[in-house]
Amino acid sequence: MIDLHTHFLPEMDDGAKNVDESILMLREAYKQGVSVCAGTSHIVLHSESNIEAFLKKRDNAIVSLRKKLVGSENLVPKLIYGAEVFLDNDISKYNGVEKLCLTGTNLLLVEFPTREYNPEYAEWLYSLTLKGIVPVIAHFERYSYINELLDDLDSVNVAYQMNAKTVMKNSWFKFILGLYYHEKKVLISSDMHNMGLRKTCMKKAYDKICKYYSKEVAGDFFENTASQLISTVFIK
Ligand SMILES: [Fe+2]
Repeated sequence: MIDLHTHFLPEMDDGAKNVDESILMLREAYKQGVSVCAGTSHIVLHSESNIEAFLKKRDNAIVSLRKKLVGSENLVPKLIYGAEVFLDNDISKYNGVEKLCLTGTNLLLVEFPTREYNPEYAEWLYSLTLKGIVPVIAHFERYSYINELLDDLDSVNVAYQMNAKTVMKNSWFKFILGLYYHEKKVLISSDMHNMGLRKTCMKKAYDKICKYYSKEVAGDFFENTASQLISTVFIK
């Protein structure tokens, strides 16, 4: 499985509190069958300078994690890095915003305010696509205006990320399948934050889709779509 939305990097946000917790989270992900895992720490973007500050802080977090992982790299997934960018303004105007994409790709994980719908959201995403970026909308299930957003995004090239925990709720099961059969790019990630209440549950969710639907659909949600997105938007 490929997990493109997690908060395993230490001391970056409300995710891993320290390197030890990062390693426990990554080992658990690996045990559950995750082979590639993206660290997507939160960033709220209101100026160009905070892109650089974020990247510097993220580099330091990666260095301390890598140091502690020496000798046990084979017990954790392959690690890639990005950000989860809060979208409450048109971030395409900031120079260097593409540096927040997942390592070596044009994929940018973005999240919106959960309750306040704004018709400009689709325009902001469209502006990002004009820069060659493919926005991945984080935990799409979380927005109270989900239907309006879906309509607005009908012709915008985006991917829809849903949280593994959501798959465990029957009420969302049909919705996710509906998106899939409307040929939307849907991927399921953990959005893991810790080893407690927000621990990864990728395997349970994968098994549920296999049991109640099919291994083929589960493969698309948990691996193939993410894998295609990573490879097709790779920056040469
Ligand atoms: Fe997140």
